[in-house]
Amino acid sequence: MPKAKINGIELFWREAGEGDPLLLLHGFPLNHTMWESQVEFFSGQNWRVIAPDQRGYGQSSLNPDETTTMDLLAQDAAALLDYLNIEKAVVVGLSMGGYVSFALYRQFPQKVRALVLADTKAEPDPPAAREGRYQLREAVREKGSVAARDVMVPKYFAPAVYSANLALVAYWEKVVDGINPEAIMATLPGLAERPDSVPLLPQIKVPALVIHGEQDTMMPVEGARQMAQAIPGGQFVAVAGAGHMSNLENSEFFNQTVESFLQALP
Ligand code: MLT
Repeated sequence: MPKAKINGIELFWREAGEGDPLLLLHGFPLNHTMWESQVEFFSGQNWRVIAPDQRGYGQSSLNPDETTTMDLLAQDAAALLDYLNIEKAVVVGLSMGGYVSFALYRQFPQKVRALVLADTKAEPDPPAAREGRYQLREAVREKGSVAARDVMVPKYFAPAVYSANLALVAYWEKVVDGINPEAIMATLPGLAERPDSVPLLPQIKVPALVIHGEQDTMMPVEGARQMAQAIPGGQFVAVAGAGHMSNLENSEFFNQTVESFLQALP
């Protein structure tokens, strides 16, 4: 499994397939395994799929004294593309991965061929949400990653999925339990202080698809529809039966929608 020293940390990524590069950026506080169905599908469709564990997550290390800002995560992603001699990639980011995609486009627009913004938003945290991030940070310091698990996992899935698909929920609880608490504590201020990406939306000059679970309880779908409208030529697709983890909850539809978007790229 590939790992490289990048920006002072050991960065791990999953890579499969050959063809044009497709970079998959995971959500918080997760790891690259959330993309397994997309890695399998797109690597079989002539794409070179690259799914990193962002710093501190999964098998990647972090510098716990440094805040994991969205800009820093974007710099890691750009450095990984450089390391792999990739000039440009289609960037797919879910939730926090979307915040990182905005940061990547802001800092390195030449590296982004197209954007797929899944279950994410451009707005910064309102004051109460920021406060909640710092409270969660203290809870994680005290109790470990289990505190993040209890706050985050119930919000990941559509209500019907959460109550019926116990195996799926248990799996993702286990994933969050296994995340390094230092990574969560380093990322929470980075999430809380992330910049407003709304002014960036009208400046996006690459093809963009906004794809969003119809029943996302963390980020209501209406906001995503408006975000797509603010991006010149931005496309919007809602994923039926899915909450915040639209790529997992309805992966077949998610993959087909993204594939149609990719097929139409210039
Ligand atoms: C995520 O899924 O990446 C997080 O929910 C994002 C956030 O907490 O804002």
